[in-house]
This record gives sequence, structure tokens and C-alpha cells, in this order.
Amino acid sequence: MRITLKIQRFNPETDSEPRFQEYGVEVEPTERILDALMSVKSEQDGSLAFRRSCGHGVCGSDAMLINGKERLACKTLVRDVTQAEGDVVSIQPLEHLRVQRDLMVDQGPFFERWRSVKPFLITDLPAPEGAERPQSAGERLAIDDMTKCILCAACYSACPVLDGKNPRYIGPAAIVNAARFVFDSRDTGLAERLPVLDHPDGVWSCDNLFECTRVCPRGIKVTKDINSTKRRIRG
Ligand code: SF4
Ligand code: FES
Repeated sequence: MRITLKIQRFNPETDSEPRFQEYGVEVEPTERILDALMSVKSEQDGSLAFRRSCGHGVCGSDAMLINGKERLACKTLVRDVTQAEGDVVSIQPLEHLRVQRDLMVDQGPFFERWRSVKPFLITDLPAPEGAERPQSAGERLAIDDMTKCILCAACYSACPVLDGKNPRYIGPAAIVNAARFVFDSRDTGLAERLPVLDHPDGVWSCDNLFECTRVCPRGIKVTKDINSTKRRIRG
């Protein structure tokens, strides 16, 4: 089948603002939007810039707006988009992050906010001698949802709070990754994370709008995890 990709282009060296460019592409309905983008790049326009790495929904590098919705290009089939939304597919970079070029955004601020919650095990409990720190199946289950995050920033792009109310909000992904350790039975680092989490720019910026949960390609219950973290902070 033939589809048209309407891709937002921006080259900071030559463009004063973004523009759309259309490309006709022959694709199988079972191919992915990422395949269509790679076809454009290899056969029509080598200057098109976008990120991708694993191609299988693991690395999180190819989140973008496909017909205005945050999705992973490698997990989005052409037929699923075109059957519901037609043969002209718009492709744009994520929101809330500066566009470096075409579909590539500066992920730096997103990862800075992620790092600010100390997304690693903090513990003052002694490790058992010669063994790993044990965890029961139930304790592991408590953090299962949060461990699935691939840091794609789809939720960060979709969050309306970052639009205007508070651009300094650390965002849903940072809180999910904090929760992954806050609710880890082996972690005792909540107090160290509180200056960032228990702050107007932390969990209290979340207005329960559920856009993060709606777009998360990993099916993480993002809003629920944020609310659980709020409750844990309140004690
Ligand atoms: S919570 Fe979901 S949408 Fe947000 S960064 Fe993680 S995987 Fe992506
Ligand atoms: S290319 Fe890795 S998640 Fe899509």
C-alpha cells in the first residue's frame, strides 16, 4: 500500500521555524511506522533525522507524535494507524523538549529530572554475607509496574502540567522511577529523595490528568504510581 508521511522538519542551521514535508512511501500494512521512516531516509532523503536503536520497544529512543499521539514508531503498525486514521500520517517530535533537528529532541532535561530522584538503590541495611539482598515474590510484585519504564519520555511529552502550569515539574517518568525504589523492600532512601519529590515541582504538581497513563507504551499505571508515591510521602 502507499501512504504519505507528513513529517515535521527543522534544521536549526537553515530554518527559522519548523515546516512539514510530505513523502509518499510504499509499505506493507504489517510494517511499522519506523520502517516507513527508514525507507524515506534510505531511499528518498538522507537528511531526515530521527532516533532509533533497538527496533523492538526496549530502548525508548523513537517515541514521537504519530498523528498527534505519543507512540513508539517501532511498535506502531502502519495498518493500525491508517485503518483508523487514514493514509496520510503526520509525524512530529515529542513536546516539551527542544527540537535539535527534525524528530530529534534534546533529551538532556528529561534525563536530568530522572537523575534528580536518585533512581538507584539506596540502603543503610547491611547486605547478607556472600548473598544478594533477598526479596520475596510479593515484594518484587510491588515494584513490577515501575520496572517496565524504558525512559521514552512519551509521558513527559503528553503531560499537560508541563504545558503551562509548571514547566519545572519533574514529570511522570521521574516519579515512576523514584517509586520503583521508594517501594522496593530493600531501599531505605526515601528521605534522600524527599527534597525533590516532596516539593511543588515534584509529586504535588501532578493534577491526575491521566495523559501519561494513556500514552505509556509499556502500559505502566503512571498516574496510580504517582498517587501511591504521594500517599507514601504523606505517611
Ligand atoms: S512511564 Fe511509560 S511513557 Fe513514561 S518514560 Fe516510562 S515507559 Fe515512557
Ligand atoms: S527503537 Fe528502541 S524502543 Fe523503538
